Amino acid sequence: METAEVDAFYALNEARLASVTREFTEHFLGRVLYAVKANSLPQVLRAVFRAGVGGFDVASLAEARLVRSTIPQARSWFMNPAKSRRDVEWTFRDLGVRNYVIDCEADLQKLLEVLPSHDPELRIYVRFNCGATSAVLDLDSKCGASPAEARHLLGLVHAQSRWTSLSFHTGSQTIVIEPYLHAIRAAIGIVEGVSPGPTALDIGGGFPGHYLNIPYHSPLSMLSNITKLMRGSEALKSIELLCEPGRALVSDSMSLFCRVILRKGGALYCGAGIYSGLTPARQYFQLPARAGRGGRPIETEERQDFIIFGPTCDSMDRLGFSYSLPRDLSEGDWIEFQHVGAYSETLRCSFNGFSVDKIVTVEEDELTESRGHSSDCS
Ligand SMILES: Cc1ncc(COP(=O)(O)O)c(C=O)c1O
Repeated sequence: METAEVDAFYALNEARLASVTREFTEHFLGRVLYAVKANSLPQVLRAVFRAGVGGFDVASLAEARLVRSTIPQARSWFMNPAKSRRDVEWTFRDLGVRNYVIDCEADLQKLLEVLPSHDPELRIYVRFNCGATSAVLDLDSKCGASPAEARHLLGLVHAQSRWTSLSFHTGSQTIVIEPYLHAIRAAIGIVEGVSPGPTALDIGGGFPGHYLNIPYHSPLSMLSNITKLMRGSEALKSIELLCEPGRALVSDSMSLFCRVILRKGGALYCGAGIYSGLTPARQYFQLPARAGRGGRPIETEERQDFIIFGPTCDSMDRLGFSYSLPRDLSEGDWIEFQHVGAYSETLRCSFNGFSVDKIVTVEEDELTESRGHSSDCS
């Protein structure tokens, strides 16, 4: 690919993705599922699989199909509490899915009607609302039963002779450890209050990525504390443990390179914006960024804060933070927005005809317009 032909492209560092994934799986004492919604590029799915992740958290039939077609030997867990009858039926029948989550009686009823009553591998997870408050993106306001309802639902699942399991999600970009510890203690309370107890606990995703505007706590140190709590618990000793990270695995392994297509004073108009890949930077996250010219970083102390616009005619197409970049930046220069691995590729669209469909695989930290192996990610 000639990157000269495009005004924006992704660069994926597979080696970094593999090493982050390996470290994460080594620090978690149970099964790690990768949350496909964070980044569904086939090369990302293959890289995390090669790095030791054999299970995938999917939210839809389409994601389960993608996993099957990309890595036929991998297994999918359907962990979205809102799903259609058709998606349940087809994932079970055609794609071998045996793990489903529910958070209310209506969804449980649907599973009981659609799934066969005697499948020894079938597991139904009850997701409970852990009341987490520190995540940048809350999920509890949409999903999760109260702990009391969760106990009731576990009883209903058990009454139908199905394997029961438990899950929670502290919210995406959970920046401190306390919500996990609080939720695990709540899970222990639920496990101790039902008999027989669940066979598995899934502690969700939510582990943080690295952004300029948010204090960073390493997911690995979070995992050490989580492990300590879970190891010390009688209730959790003999059940399977799982987690479903997306952001923390993939966030730092991808950059979005954008050409400056226009400068107007202190505003830079770029080849990609919030609709075409920079969605994470729209409101919540300030991305690390650096500028380049002719394939090399621009080394200068002379910097200024710029407003960054995307290329569309929409005034919402503007990044939520200003960016300190070389003062003489102008048309034709490049900005590399780093750490866009999560919730960028999956959220992009081609509004106004601007789409980012090119991905370059890089092996090291390189600011380049022409090196690397390219492919189409549309
Ligand atoms: C059910 C479920 N699992 C896992 C994830 C991944 O979360 P994160 O990317 O914050 O790790 C999400 C995110 O929305 C989710 O809804």
